[in-house]
Amino acid sequence: MSDTALKDLQTILRGQLGDDLIVENYKTKNLLPPGENYGSKIISVHAIIKRHGKSNEHEDLYLIAKLPPTSQFQREMFDSPFTFRKEIFMYDKILKYYRQLEIESGDELSDISPVYYGSRLSMNTNVDFDDDAAILLENLKVRGYYSVERKIGFDLAHAQLAIKAMARFHALGMATKEKDPEFFDILKKKSKCLEFKGAEVWANILQERLQEIADDPEISQYYEACVKVAQLGDEKAWTAIPTEPWSTIIHSDFWANNILFHKNNGTDKPDDIKFVDYQNYLFLSPLRELTFFLGSGLNHETTDHINDMIDLYYFNLIEKLKKLNCNVDLYSRESFDEKIKEDGQIEFVHCLYMMKIVTMDIAADDPDAHDIRSLMEKPRSGKNYQNRLRDLVINFDKQGWLIK
Ligand SMILES: Nc1ncnc2c1ncn2[C@@H]1O[C@H](COP(=O)(O)OP(=O)(O)O)[C@@H](O)[C@H]1O
Ligand SMILES: [Mg+2]
Repeated sequence: MSDTALKDLQTILRGQLGDDLIVENYKTKNLLPPGENYGSKIISVHAIIKRHGKSNEHEDLYLIAKLPPTSQFQREMFDSPFTFRKEIFMYDKILKYYRQLEIESGDELSDISPVYYGSRLSMNTNVDFDDDAAILLENLKVRGYYSVERKIGFDLAHAQLAIKAMARFHALGMATKEKDPEFFDILKKKSKCLEFKGAEVWANILQERLQEIADDPEISQYYEACVKVAQLGDEKAWTAIPTEPWSTIIHSDFWANNILFHKNNGTDKPDDIKFVDYQNYLFLSPLRELTFFLGSGLNHETTDHINDMIDLYYFNLIEKLKKLNCNVDLYSRESFDEKIKEDGQIEFVHCLYMMKIVTMDIAADDPDAHDIRSLMEKPRSGKNYQNRLRDLVINFDKQGWLIK
């Protein structure tokens, strides 16, 4: 075993794989360079296991372990005890329920997320949460899964697959709401938003972002409209109860690093997708997620296809709801079009913050590499940031998602 702290893997794995499982040995490594994630420390784990009863042979198990972030600031910002519990509930309860709904509807697609191998909040029964917290998942990278280049954004093929999977994920929440209101009430409670901290810091950051729009001659003409629309994206936007029928459980952190793709060697189109990172899911309008992705996720060329992607989302959402035997009369295209405008306006600020994170350039030896606040305050993003900021503003204006 290396020095990275993941103790007693066997006990966690036994929770999912049974008490006859034996971990012979395991090695761990850091999975990621700085700047690729903020809410945790991720290590890869290669375990040699034996499953008694089934066979006495050794098996390789390739996992990732999600551990609490190393810095105190990040632990507080992400409220790790809260977000770890939340993420575990997604893997252990919600995704399993969704899977069952799909099996019952005869629509068994590839899993929407990696296989879950168990979790722990502490090794001490008297302690709620400590350094020994861990969430274990199958390591998708070993199976060839990859993310799109965050600084550039999604090309058309990857964006289309992401949107179809997003519609599937949202439809499963809407189906749960219709079919099992009691269970859905529990989901709503579990989807509570992380408490918002540092309002002043964020307000200053927003002022700087807006100033960048004012200072860029290519988009300065939209400055006033951006200032107006930015007022809609405040704290309340994250805690308000969504209006029916446009509500479901949304992922709420739908960006390049939380979406993994697979493709076969030699082909250029992805054939599978998986979502990770369920620390922030919320009970909110599904069109918040869609407009966030369209505003912050796409590469320059793909922004020409925003209207096609809105159609693609609507089509896939309705088709999936029909397969799940839901009442689709509720979700007319007319009400969808109204809602998307409202949600696009709210998501502008969120996209504006995110642009900085997705285009960040961080050297591994940067002393601030793990300090998200300093990274947000001190710009370290060049041309990619400027280009994508322009795309965001110009395309939101085209869609009518700024306030003139
Ligand atoms: N199951 C997995 N297999 C392979 N890589 C993963 C897996 N889960 C996460 N990762 C990688 O680790 C990164 C961080 O994981 P994530 O769950 O997003 O943590 P955080 O909450 O810190 O952002 C992801 O962006 C992805 O690159
Ligand atoms: Mg992440």
